[in-house]
Formats: sequence, C-alpha cells, structure tokens
Amino acid sequence: MRIDVVSIFPSYFDGLALSLLGKARESGILDLHVHDLRDWTSDRHRTVDDTPYGGGAGMVMKPEPWGLALDELAASSSEPTIIFPSPAGEVFRQATARDLAQREHLIIGCGRYEGIDERVFEYAATLGEVRLVSLGDYVLNGGEVAAMAMIEAVGRLIPGVVGNPESLVEESHEDGLLEYPSYTKPSAWRDRAVPEILLSGNHGAIAAWRRDQQVERTRVRRPDLLGD
Ligand code: ADE
Repeated sequence: MRIDVVSIFPSYFDGLALSLLGKARESGILDLHVHDLRDWTSDRHRTVDDTPYGGGAGMVMKPEPWGLALDELAASSSEPTIIFPSPAGEVFRQATARDLAQREHLIIGCGRYEGIDERVFEYAATLGEVRLVSLGDYVLNGGEVAAMAMIEAVGRLIPGVVGNPESLVEESHEDGLLEYPSYTKPSAWRDRAVPEILLSGNHGAIAAWRRDQQVERTRVRRPDLLGD
C-alpha cells in the first residue's frame, strides 16, 4: 500500500519510523511518503493560509497549494482514496480501518487553523474517493495526530505488518466486543492472584470465561457497542 501524507508539520510523522510500521516501511510492505504542503507554494513566505471570507475567527488554508499537491500525488495511481482528518467527518472505527486497509493508495491531507477552503474537498472528489474522517468527538489542533492514529490502525491490518495474524483477531473491536483481560507470570503479585481458570489447562472453559469477560466488560464500559 502507498500512503502520501500532506502536512505543514511533516516532522510529526517521524515516529512512524519506529516499531512495526517502521519495519513494514523498510521491507516495502508500506510505502509511506510525508510531504510538506509548503513545497507547493510559490510566494516568498510559503503562505498556506488566509483570512476567512465572511469574517470570523482564525485563518483558513488556501486552496492553491492543496490543488497542486493533490494533482501531483493523485497522478501516481489510478484510484486514490483521499482522506481529510476532520472533527466534522464520519467517525473512524475498526471497520473504517479494515475498509481503508484494502485500498491501493491513500492520500491524507492534514488541515490546520480553522480548516481548509471547502472547494478543495469538491476538487479532490474529481481525483478519487474523498473521506472526511474524525478520530472522535473532540477537537485537535490539526489533522496530524488523527492521521498518525489512522495510519497505525490501517497499517497494522496490511498482511505481513503484524507478525502473528491471530493477534489481530483477538482484539477489542474486531468482533464488536472489548478485549478480555490478560495476565502473565507471576501467578501471584502483590496479593493478587491470576484467575484460577487460566491455570486450569481447560481450553474450552478458558475460551468460555474469556467470552464472558468480553461481554461483561463491554456491557459495563461500552454498552453502546451492544446496541441494546
Ligand atoms: N482535526 C481536528 N480535530 C480532529 C478530530 N477529532 N479528528 C480528526 N481530525 C481532527
């Protein structure tokens, strides 16, 4: 998969050289490119924002650098999916990550300030599928942190990125439930024992206990996921 990220703070993404995603990049499974939006400006100050028409607080990102960036990056594939992190978008879920992990080419445009000139989204739709995607119902200073989260959630679903594919299955949200609790040695720690059943060697009983734990945790912590 190829991912192009456009941001005025490209160094945010330096962390993606680490860990499993860093390895995936080295091995070529993940072809990730981070670009500075200012490289598509032509004035001396490399200006990317201006005051909003109609007035109001803050600045709006100008359309011209975005148009040039999207033209150049979209030209490298036939069907790019163009994602703009935005608190006004659809909520990013595990299902969104699974969907995006199937795509050949993602372009992620990180807005700052009060947002990007609306015409950029309309224009982007002429180049590929456009998705405005929110990390959740809170406001960040820009799209970068949301983009990082999305790249990690999508990247780990690309075959070969996570060594043991089974660890992808037994996780919160993969089956609509929260994950069961995990324990390791020692079996007693600070007067707390590991649940007896996990030491029993009875795999059927362990699986049933884990399932019960998943349902109970989901009921208590995230009843919205159970839909009743
Ligand atoms: N940019 C600012 N807030 C955001 C959010 N909640 N999700 C995605 N992008 C954002």
